[in-house]
Amino acid sequence: MSDRVADLREVDLSKPPAEGMVRVTFLPEGRTVEFAFNSLPYEGHGQPMSFLDVAVNYGIFLDHACGGVCACTTCHLHVKQGAEGTSEAEDLELDRLETAAGIELNSRLGCQAVIERPGTYVVEIPKWNRNYVQEGKPAHGPGS
Ligand code: FES
Repeated sequence: MSDRVADLREVDLSKPPAEGMVRVTFLPEGRTVEFAFNSLPYEGHGQPMSFLDVAVNYGIFLDHACGGVCACTTCHLHVKQGAEGTSEAEDLELDRLETAAGIELNSRLGCQAVIERPGTYVVEIPKWNRNYVQEGKPAHGPGS
């Protein structure tokens, strides 16, 4: 994780993000991070500026079994706010999402949904992706 990223406790949620800033809240953990648009170092997980890229930069656990190449659905999340500021889903992502459990209208793959402009984003990691111990190892697999 880069030293440049601000700790989530520094985010003032009582105000909207300043001009040119991106604010992302990861639910249900409720962790919020904020950074200047396009300022994060690319960590090589998913598309640059994807939700997975942001999560990896800040040490927030979002499973990504295939390494972020749109070949699984473990990074599935629901975009609850800010969808209009994200990239359009490509056919490959849509095809992959069709195989995901609990798909909803706001479903995206975290490695493919790219933040394209400053603003506020809220994403929720579905519960079947949350059964992990803090070290990031499965406590038990989906459906178990
Ligand atoms: S990490 Fe595998 S599809 Fe996103």
